[in-house]
Parts: sequence; C-alpha cells; structure tokens
Amino acid sequence: DKAGHRHFMAKEIAEQPSVIGTALTHYLTEDGRDIVLPGGTPDFTRIERMSLVACGTAYFACLTAKYWFEQLAGLPVDVDIASEFRYREPPVSKGTAALFVSQSGETADTLAALRYCKGRAGQVLSVVNVPESSIARESDLALPILAGAEIGVASTKAFTCQLTVLLLLALKAAHARGRIDDARLSDLLSQLRALPATFNTAMEIDPDVRIAARDLSGAQSALFLGRGLMYPLALEGALKLKEISYIHAEAYASGELKHGPIALIDETLPVIVMAPCDALFDKTVSNMQEVMARGGQILLISDAKGVAAAGDETWQTITLPDVDPVLAPILYALPAQLLAYHTAVAKGTDVDQPRNLAKSVTVE
Ligand code: F6R
Repeated sequence: DKAGHRHFMAKEIAEQPSVIGTALTHYLTEDGRDIVLPGGTPDFTRIERMSLVACGTAYFACLTAKYWFEQLAGLPVDVDIASEFRYREPPVSKGTAALFVSQSGETADTLAALRYCKGRAGQVLSVVNVPESSIARESDLALPILAGAEIGVASTKAFTCQLTVLLLLALKAAHARGRIDDARLSDLLSQLRALPATFNTAMEIDPDVRIAARDLSGAQSALFLGRGLMYPLALEGALKLKEISYIHAEAYASGELKHGPIALIDETLPVIVMAPCDALFDKTVSNMQEVMARGGQILLISDAKGVAAAGDETWQTITLPDVDPVLAPILYALPAQLLAYHTAVAKGTDVDQPRNLAKSVTVE
C-alpha cells in the first residue's frame, strides 16, 4: 500500500518524521532526558575501540557514526565494507566492540563479517531493521531501528533510522565515558526530540528539489561534495542518484577536490554541495568558488545562513531549517533522497525496482 504516493520510495521518504519519532520513543526515557537500551547497555568504559562493518547505504551510516563515536565519545573507530573486511581477516581484539549495520539483517557479506568477529571481539553488536534476522539473532546485542518494512529497493527511512540509533548509541557512550555532561546530553536529546518536527518542516524543500532535479535529469554525470559529517552524506547522495536515475555520480570530500576531481569540472557537470553553515563552511565556500571559476554548475544544499553567505552566484540553492551540526546528517539525508527520487521520476525510470538491484543481497 503506497498510501496515496506514486511510489513506495516517496511514501518511505515521507514516513521519516514518524519512524524517527518511533525510534526515539523506544530509546528514550519517558521524560526524554536519558537514553535506555532495552536489551542491555555495553560497558563503554571498557571498550577501547569500535569496528563498524556494513555494505552500501548502511556503510555510509557507519561512516557518519565514526564522526560521532570519535568526536563525542572519544572512541577510535574503524569502518569497513563487509566484503573487504571478511577476506582481509583483520586482527580483532577483546577491547573491540564490533558493530554491524544492516536493514535486512541478511546481507551475506555482513553476516560473514559478524561470524568472523564472534569469539574475537569483546562484544558483537548490531543495528538492524528486522529483529528476527540472522544478524540480529547472532549478535550479543541487537538494536532495532523500528523503521517498519522498507519496500523501495533504494534505502531511505532505514538510513535515517540507522543514523538516529547510532547517534543515540554514541551519546550513551559519550555520557558513560564522561565526555559529555548531563547538560549537553539533555540539550542534544531535546534537539533530537524536536527532529521529527524539523524534518516535517524540511519537506517544504520538495518544490525546489523538483526544479533542481529537472536540470539534473539531463546530465551525464554529477559530483557530490561534503566535508566532515557531510562527506558520508555526499556519498549517500551519489549512490541514491546512481541507483535509481542511472546517472553516473561520484562523491568526494570537499578538500579532495584539488587533488584530482577538479579536472572534471566544466559547464556540463552539476556539482551538488552539502554544507550547513558550520565551522567548516568557509572552507567549502572556497571550494565552490574554485568550481564556479571553471564554469561548474553548483547546487548548494545548506541552511538560510549558508545560502546567504554563499552569495547569489550559485546555480541553485535548497534551504533547510537550522539544526545542531551534530544532528545535521539525519536532516540532510532528505535532500539527498528527494533529489535522486525526482531526477528518476523526471527520467521515467523504475524508481522502486531499479534495474539489476535486489532489496536483500543474500549472495556474495
Ligand atoms: C542502497 C541500498 C543498499 C543497501 C545494502 C545493504 O539504497 O539499499 O546499498 O544499503 O545492500 O543492505 P542491508 O542494510 O540490508 O545489509
């Protein structure tokens, strides 16, 4: 049932405020001021490092979580693609908590990586959408994301719910390790509780994204740029676009632009820049100037302050509501998803069943 939407993907994008709210209710105390992990809490004071492993979109959720665990909790994090991890057979010690992220809970490479870590890592955790899945069953602690069934092959609401649960876990770790005090925890949690409403407001970008998508649908290729927490989001934006519109897209950390990809810039290459007006914004503006000086076409996705600071030279802009930089990745997933969606609709591709792709990859 598409609930009046043209595609499951559109329905699942629209459901995000509600399912993020469900995940928050599950993991927050009634007064909303503390985090509870219903299945038990790992002893974060004894964990020395974390190893995060997944495939595809779930891997980008892990890349985002690396910033959170490192910056908020002071925990060193390795992030690996499951198919690389399992055959590399890296050393894993008891001080490591291994964490596997999977919507389906059945991805063959992720499951094999989990089995490799059993008996080696101090603890095996998972973040899954399907609680009765193999990955959930074989973990010491499985954290459900409660996104509900995801039908569209391109993952949307599972990604934002994965991010929500990973952020809660990072905050729990940060608090347990004495890295954030009660006041900062309470402040971030109150902003998280407001996120479903902010996300709802953000849905108002839809008409602007549609206009940008009309132009993008004529492109052969596109480049996504982001720094810090926006870098994994740029990767996710490029993956979504490839998957459902079949337009070639690549993502780079903005600072890498001049180390190679700048050679691609000309009038035909749309460059999508994801950059809230945070501490790194000025650096991103100078990257945008380098692109514009070479005739590149920029679509800037930012907040009102960022859009104003960038000036009116930018090709197009999409303005999101203000949000604490820590939470920004969850909100900035929306334009990444909508841009791919509307571009695919403009091209007339099969949005929910893109060619060559399966929802659950249970073979290598
Ligand atoms: C992209 C997408 C895939 C999955 C990947 C992992 O939109 O859906 O990249 O994220 O196949 O799947 P799970 O999360 O089920 O392990």
